[in-house]
Amino acid sequence: MPIRSTSPNSVRRPSVWPGVILYYWDLLPVKNRESIVTLHEGNTPLLRCSNLERVINPDIRLYVKLEGLNPTCSFKDRGMTVAISKAVEEGSRAVLCASTGNTAASAAAYAARAGLKAYVLIPQGSISLGKLSQAMIHGARVIEVEGNFDTALRLVKEATRHFPITLVNSLNPYRLEGQKTAAFEVSDHLGEAPNYHFLPVGNAGNITAYWKGYKQYLEIGRLTSLPKMMGFQAAGAAPIVLGKVVEQPETVASAIRIGNPASWQGALAARDESNGVIDTVTDEEIIAAYKLLANTEGALAEPASAVSVAGVIKKQRERLFRKGDTVVCTLTGHGLKDPDVAIRHSAQSMRISPNLDSLVAIFEREEKK
Ligand code: F0G
Repeated sequence: MPIRSTSPNSVRRPSVWPGVILYYWDLLPVKNRESIVTLHEGNTPLLRCSNLERVINPDIRLYVKLEGLNPTCSFKDRGMTVAISKAVEEGSRAVLCASTGNTAASAAAYAARAGLKAYVLIPQGSISLGKLSQAMIHGARVIEVEGNFDTALRLVKEATRHFPITLVNSLNPYRLEGQKTAAFEVSDHLGEAPNYHFLPVGNAGNITAYWKGYKQYLEIGRLTSLPKMMGFQAAGAAPIVLGKVVEQPETVASAIRIGNPASWQGALAARDESNGVIDTVTDEEIIAAYKLLANTEGALAEPASAVSVAGVIKKQRERLFRKGDTVVCTLTGHGLKDPDVAIRHSAQSMRISPNLDSLVAIFEREEKK
């Protein structure tokens, strides 16, 4: 059979995605190619959610950025590749972070690849199993702190004043440099800025980074407008909305159980400069959005990520959007990080004896529903 010119064999394969540092080389602070530590993070899908649009508002274009498809399954990898590459460039031997789980997982993986020692401090008993297992298997020294994330963050900040160790929390400016690349990707994909960008807010680094990225793209002429930044905190962990530190933050979204965010000022600046908002959603709204995403779009994000979609639903109730608005939600981490929550909020599995009659009985019952 003759080979047609359109046969798969003749299609030019795209070159391999090099990771965010090489792809956005001119816009990032890494100087030596030899010091790049990458797991080829970035280039995550921006998924159009037509099913969700029908449920929420058919007049908007709704997209989700699937950051759970990064190498350690969260957006942290964008910042970690830059922070760890700079740590290598600067001759560091060990890195340190406090974390609700995802930063720890990412730091552990990139440090392993770089041959650096990683110390991760986590709030005792309150990070999801998936994240804990990642930090452990990548060989980080996992230290449980009797206290919450804010206590752990205070401790690591103090520690860096006494020991020569590189802090890789988002207080490290290189983290935010890397994370801003997600705003570049959204802009590259859409060919313009969205009207609204919805994000969960915990330590508030990511909203700060996105805003930096969008503004930089405007400055260099790759955008002609900027989005409104829409940050959402869980109602039980909403220091920025309340305007005061929350001593005992509580929410089902363990990733953003934070009462005193490091980038508080950055989040306020993003809100005010963009004419956006920082608002709250309840745990019930978070779980409802989490299930809706999984059930209608096949997109599994962790509860903290679903905060962004819960925010869109809340703003739709307030009639915020206009016909034709483009709305982007960042789904910050993969739902498999936290399988317990998925199982707790799903229908129970069914059990049958191994015969056809039992199976058919189930089909008949289900078809009637
Ligand atoms: N979503 C997920 C899945 C997160 O892990 C985090 C933060 C956020 C949202 C909030 O982002 O802190 O930049 O406002 N996780 C940090 C951690 C605190 O330690 O993994 P933020």
